[in-house]
Amino acid sequence: MNSNLNDNLSDFDTSIMQRVLELASQGTSTTQPNPRVACIIVNGKEIVGEGVHHMAGEPHAERLAIEQAGELARGGTAFVNLEPCCHQGRTPPCTDGLVDAGISRVVAAMRDPNPLVEGGGFELLTDAGIDVEYGLLENEARWLNRGFVSRMVRGRPWVALKTGATLDGRTAAYDGESKWITSPEARIAVQELRANSSAVVTGIGTVMADDPNMNVRIDGAERQPYRVVLDSHLQLPIDAQIIGTDQKLIVFTLSQDLDRVSALTEAGVEVVQLNDTSSGRINLHDVMAELSNWQCNEVLLEAGQTLSGAFMEAGLIDELTVFYAGSVLGDKAQSMFQFESPLSFAERFDFHIRSAEMVGPDVCLTAINQASWQTLVTKD
Ligand SMILES: NC(=O)c1ccc[n+]([C@@H]2O[C@H](COP(=O)([O-])OP(=O)(O)OC[C@H]3O[C@@H](n4cnc5c(N)ncnc54)[C@H](OP(=O)(O)O)[C@@H]3O)[C@@H](O)[C@H]2O)c1
Repeated sequence: MNSNLNDNLSDFDTSIMQRVLELASQGTSTTQPNPRVACIIVNGKEIVGEGVHHMAGEPHAERLAIEQAGELARGGTAFVNLEPCCHQGRTPPCTDGLVDAGISRVVAAMRDPNPLVEGGGFELLTDAGIDVEYGLLENEARWLNRGFVSRMVRGRPWVALKTGATLDGRTAAYDGESKWITSPEARIAVQELRANSSAVVTGIGTVMADDPNMNVRIDGAERQPYRVVLDSHLQLPIDAQIIGTDQKLIVFTLSQDLDRVSALTEAGVEVVQLNDTSSGRINLHDVMAELSNWQCNEVLLEAGQTLSGAFMEAGLIDELTVFYAGSVLGDKAQSMFQFESPLSFAERFDFHIRSAEMVGPDVCLTAINQASWQTLVTKD
């Protein structure tokens, strides 16, 4: 936690910050790689300007709120869920805009962990005579931008595993059939999870078994996540459905088969050849570092038991979203996580259950890896 809040913060201040967070969440599926940000300008007790950042390259929330407020911004308070930027990017620094507009107080939910900002925005505002307070609804703000914060403080995206499972935690039948464990309602909810992610990752096992497309099929979707396949031996068939769209497909491999690489590259696939490992399998931390370089904030893992198990074992699953259907497949069916090494009770992975809700006839349960969350709230 990082805060310099004054004791005199009012319920009104908190309610405005709650609205800021609601507005910022409107950018959940569009702002990546940028964070989700909104700004509200208040003069007295009146809201005089609101702005929501929509997409990278488009105006920042503060600029939009200032524009809407016009002269009424003078002497007002700007509430924003992230420290205003102080660097020239594709758009000019927001700190300049706030100073020029005559804002007298800025209340922010959190510092920006981006090394280009990291307190520099607050410093600039303070130097210009503006009162700056930060730390209001900080945890909520960090949660909203957990992918961005993760990329900034850990150098890797936030990884959420989504899986459809039976009541006994099975993700496919013994013969590999898994269509469809869950209901149409659950599958619609999955479309939203994909839309909110920078990349959707799967293993070659799932591609071979299901020939999935893994795109977002939501009317009016403004952005498609990258699709990513982990395929150590470059087995991906050239006629796989996942290749046949305009959306970027990245295949990570250990293979040095240049003919296969060029055939896939010609088909529009981005092939990333990683260094070989002693296990003969792709190093998942290398994949995460690469995806961070591709500016991926949130990654959705939609894989079978092998790759999901490897991610869990590597400590790379930050969030779990499991859609449980009212069926049972028994212990010969495929599990959610396959571990190659025995895991004793003491070595279990601990998650905190965050929510459980009905989605059609299924239950959607989300759980957070406490260790991951701690790194996001304690580091800046
Ligand atoms: N219920 C659900 O939500 C759901 C979701 C997805 C899939 N499924 C089902 O899961 C089944 C497929 O499961 P699966 O386990 O065969 O496939 P998978 O987990 O999707 O992919 C496994 C493959 O990924 C590759 N891989 C690359 N790097 C790896 C690493 N570091 N660690 C582990 N694997 C790595 C391996 O092949 P290489 O060594 O050749 O690279 C491995 O065999 C299908 O029946 C599918 O229907 C169910």
